[in-house]
Amino acid sequence: MVAWRLLTLGLLFSGACVASPTGLASIRSASGCGEEPGIGLNQRINATLPSGRTYLFWVPPNYNQRKATPLIFSFHGATRTPDSQADLDLLTTPFFNSDHIVVYPSSGEYGEDNGRYWRGAPQVLDDVDDVAYVLEILDAMESQFCIDRARIYATGKSQGGMMTNNLACDPRSSARIAAFAPVSGSYYVNVTGTECTPLTLNFNCHPARKHVPIFIFHGGHDDTINYGGGPRSSECLPYIPHFVAAWAARDGLSDTPEGVGLLLDAGDNATLYRYGSRSQKNLVEFVYGGNHVGHQWPATIPNSDSIEHATPPATFNASSIIMDFFGRYTLRGRKCGRGGYRG
Ligand SMILES: *[C@@H]1O[C@H](CO)[C@@H](O)[C@H](O)[C@H]1NC(C)=O
Ligand SMILES: *[C@@H]1O[C@H](CO)[C@@H](O)[C@H](O)[C@H]1NC(C)=O
Ligand SMILES: *[C@@H]1O[C@H](CO)[C@@H](O)[C@H](O)[C@H]1NC(C)=O
Ligand SMILES: *[C@@H]1O[C@H](CO)[C@@H](O)[C@H](O)[C@H]1NC(C)=O
Repeated sequence: MVAWRLLTLGLLFSGACVASPTGLASIRSASGCGEEPGIGLNQRINATLPSGRTYLFWVPPNYNQRKATPLIFSFHGATRTPDSQADLDLLTTPFFNSDHIVVYPSSGEYGEDNGRYWRGAPQVLDDVDDVAYVLEILDAMESQFCIDRARIYATGKSQGGMMTNNLACDPRSSARIAAFAPVSGSYYVNVTGTECTPLTLNFNCHPARKHVPIFIFHGGHDDTINYGGGPRSSECLPYIPHFVAAWAARDGLSDTPEGVGLLLDAGDNATLYRYGSRSQKNLVEFVYGGNHVGHQWPATIPNSDSIEHATPPATFNASSIIMDFFGRYTLRGRKCGRGGYRG
């Protein structure tokens, strides 16, 4: 087995470089371009939408209202908050990100203590539309800031990973978000009993685009959202490799990976699976976080997740891999070299 080092991620990810036509209407620049930001840079800010729902956001210190700026949505897990998600992903620290705006949406609250869940979870009924909420945030951010509308991304952990996947699966949001990176996601399917077949579950997923870039992370020792799937909270979770293969098939790729290799030589067997060939090379990727990685945002330093679940830190930083992955895609397709698009 080839040992792939994180240091060579750049090389690893270069490959065929042909834009995948999205068939989308031309992408206009955001109306916030040229507007004074009117908020403090490099700090977390709470905002409220006309609908009354709130979100947290952070604008990088070098923000320039005349420069189109990419934006990342990062979704917290069940019972967690936007601030806790920012503490977890560290995407507002210069080590991982210095030029993307980061938005931390806030789930609805449902009854019991800390009953904070996303639509798609068993606790939330069908009439809640969290996708519309996210797009309302995006509209608000685009009118206030100079957002690069071709470089909007989504990531999140646990139910936040589920929410990330829901955005990839919804025709409204998958038409506006370029790439997706769910971490330790709870991909609930509402079936029970003998219909809960983790290896063959069908997913309700209807992206607006033929080729949706997605990078999935899951730990081998996740005892909250088991790698093997099965019944949970009166619904059903998939076997994670089946969930990944279903994305490859949905994207028109072979559901067997074109490449499999250890992520790096660091003890645990963190493994990278890459799907797609030629112009769609590496369109779907999956990191098995390793035998010891639990229900956590993988990081080489301890974080609130690894402490809560008493699992060791990972051998890699998911945030580095996610930023690298997002950097390869725009809504226009795959990005080539420094700034150019081809195809
Ligand atoms: C945002 O609002 C939440 C809820 O009121 C609060 O707990 C949090 O401290 C606020 N965060 C910031 C950065 O102001
Ligand atoms: C799941 O399905 C059951 C049975 O069809 C239904 O009663 C329930 O409301 C559904 N749950 C959600 C969260 O949609
Ligand atoms: C990691 O190693 C364990 C055995 O220690 C094995 O059961 C498992 O399949 C391996 N996982 C991957 C993704 O290689
Ligand atoms: C992971 O990120 C932390 C900063 O959060 C950094 O100190 C550490 O060196 C990174 N590890 C690797 C392997 O890059």
